[in-house]
Amino acid sequence: MTAKKNVKRIAQLRETIRHHDHLYYVQAQPVLSDRDYDALYRELRDLEEAHPELVMPDSPTQRVGGQPLTAFAPVHHQPPMMSLDNTYTKDELLDFDQRVRRLLDGATCSYVLEPKIDGVAISLRYENGLLVSGSTRGDGKTGDDVTANLRTIRSIPLQLAGECPTPAILEVRGEIFMPTAGFARINATRQEAGQPPFANPRNAAAGSLKLLDPRAVAERPLDVVVYALGAAEGFAPDTHADLLSGLADFGFRTPPAQWHGDSINAILASLDDLETQRHDFPFEIDGGVIKVNERDRYEALGATAKSPRWAIAYKYEPERGETTIRDITVQVGRTGVLTPVAELEPVPVAGSVISRATLHNQEEIQRKDIRIGDRVLVEKAGEVIPAVVAVLTAARDGVQQPYQLPKRCPVCQEPVSQREGEVAHRCENLQCPAQSMRRLEYFAARSAMDIEGIGGIVADALIARDLVKEPLDLFDLTLAQLAVLNLGSDEQPRVFGAKNGEKVLAALEKTRHAPLADWLFALGIARVGKTVAFQVARVHVDLADVADSRCLGQLLELLETRKQLQATNPRAKVNRDRSPEEKDALGAQHAALALDIEALARPLLDLNILRRKTGKEEDYVTTGIGPEVARRLVDYFNSNAGKTILKRMKRLDINPRGGLGTPTGDTQALAGKTFVLTGSLESLSRDEASSRIRALGGSVTSAVSSQTDYVVAGASSGSKLKKAKSLGIPVLDEAAFAALTSGGPSTARRGNRAANDTEDQLSLF
Ligand code: IVH
Repeated sequence: MTAKKNVKRIAQLRETIRHHDHLYYVQAQPVLSDRDYDALYRELRDLEEAHPELVMPDSPTQRVGGQPLTAFAPVHHQPPMMSLDNTYTKDELLDFDQRVRRLLDGATCSYVLEPKIDGVAISLRYENGLLVSGSTRGDGKTGDDVTANLRTIRSIPLQLAGECPTPAILEVRGEIFMPTAGFARINATRQEAGQPPFANPRNAAAGSLKLLDPRAVAERPLDVVVYALGAAEGFAPDTHADLLSGLADFGFRTPPAQWHGDSINAILASLDDLETQRHDFPFEIDGGVIKVNERDRYEALGATAKSPRWAIAYKYEPERGETTIRDITVQVGRTGVLTPVAELEPVPVAGSVISRATLHNQEEIQRKDIRIGDRVLVEKAGEVIPAVVAVLTAARDGVQQPYQLPKRCPVCQEPVSQREGEVAHRCENLQCPAQSMRRLEYFAARSAMDIEGIGGIVADALIARDLVKEPLDLFDLTLAQLAVLNLGSDEQPRVFGAKNGEKVLAALEKTRHAPLADWLFALGIARVGKTVAFQVARVHVDLADVADSRCLGQLLELLETRKQLQATNPRAKVNRDRSPEEKDALGAQHAALALDIEALARPLLDLNILRRKTGKEEDYVTTGIGPEVARRLVDYFNSNAGKTILKRMKRLDINPRGGLGTPTGDTQALAGKTFVLTGSLESLSRDEASSRIRALGGSVTSAVSSQTDYVVAGASSGSKLKKAKSLGIPVLDEAAFAALTSGGPSTARRGNRAANDTEDQLSLF
């Protein structure tokens, strides 16, 4: 291509990709398949790599880049980022309306109601259509410059779109949030890895924005909604409704629900609508914001020191309750993590009675100074179990007792230890009955091997009666043993029965033919969630092949070699003071190592375990299997526990097959699983989603029932989603579904969206 043609093609590609990003991330109405999108993205990336002089900061390839920062620079807000006056009562909304009318002195006005998103306020500044700065609110006058972090969020346009004339200056204000599903996923991973979980999605979003490495931020499922204007030149909408539609035209995501009312009474009715929809949003909302619609009235209405008089927040009572901690007990998890649990005086919170709340870990207990006997506030945060959010220290009367996690496991009495760099305390005894019990439950769970009948009580009884210690012991059970299994006490026996026993044996028989991905997941290896299991199974023949994996070994070797490569770089800081001879020698080593890396990377690129990093031909990122996961898997199969499992499976004649172990190369990862699709998915049509499921051996039905394994919920999911929740059926959002069904590599687009069961996925280097 000639230089001119390159310039033209690059511009064309950027425009097309931007258009499809907008359809995908903002409007949730994609028209391109992932494959077609990837082809465009790759073409642009390759052209830019060949012509680095044509790379522009607003190119879709330039979202994640740059080095980690050491600190954030201050940003001055002009006009300041104001806060909102709050109320919890509708009466006060009537007062608000009265005040507005009084100040307007007879002039009319209408109102707009929007959800109040529970996230972190930010400001985005565009100059001549280009994003130049993004900042946090800070104290309202000065915030932190988090531009590099905000650029990683795909729903934030790097360049304004649309037909309208480009404003010379446009500052928009909005909220960064973490969708509830992404929050649950991240917390599960963190807890498993012994890291402190985030208390709620807002903290998770705030914590993510404060990360100094934009590459780490890119892994966090963050999103944005914009709802207000800061400084603007060349954009002056008459009404708030026009402002929102103008912002939408520029390519922003605006509040997903908006009500317009001519009177405060109309808005009060809309508030009831909002409340009924409260839990249907994919993010947390903590109320509604009511704004005067006519922007030319704002000046007359003015502002207090903190907040404008043309808007007010109606906040829901926090889903909190006040109660007393009767005791603190300890729960031992599947991986041995000890979780302190507050046993509470039962207290009603948001429609249910709470009697237990997690205290997370010892550090958290100390940080909040939580004591047995304390009066505390408990809160239901999103989808997670209730947590103690505050201690009412003023209510202490001297009888409260500080708490320390025991030095020995409360179940097996073995010593408890803390691994380096982890906050969690663990019982390291793999034979601990509590861990065995949890492993058994996990193995039998619907999301793993789906052995109906082996729930909590049965698992408990099997362990208590020494019939089972490990999941594979299940395969030695006889019908006679199951039939007389006592689920009650010695005094009040209650047998499991022959019929139930038969069902369990039949379900166990079925698992013999389950695919490798299911087995890898069900074994409960640390860091191996559904997606990782799927990706690992994709590139192996069977379990023995994973245990002896060439590619996992290569991935780890690559990592080691990469470290040496950095250390031998003659231009690196550490080698600055070396003599020219030493530098020459290092240079030769460096070049040889670079070749080694290429050789190690090639097979991994072929298997889509690695892909080349955008803009850096000689660097790679991992796709589905990261180095941490590879290390865990290698360690697991080298451990006695792992070796024993392999031997036993061989003896039991169970040999699940992976992608390289079937003639079609198809993992049939969803064999026997039934899906229901509800709502609209962003990246693919229902038909496409159904065929993905079928291609992997699953089936799709229309009605949710106890036979349903997964409900895939897109935007505007209704009664099916409710039913799934009431039946306790796992609900997958689009990212989770994509992760579960994507056989291929993560792409520029999917890599960001399908954040899944490990944070270990992307940046290898
Ligand atoms: S308007 C000058 N609209 O709530 C008015 N704020 O408690 C600017 N918030 O600081 C704010 N959703 O971070 C507005 N739809 C919405 C909102 C919203 C959430 C946050 C925002 C603000 C805080 C005030």
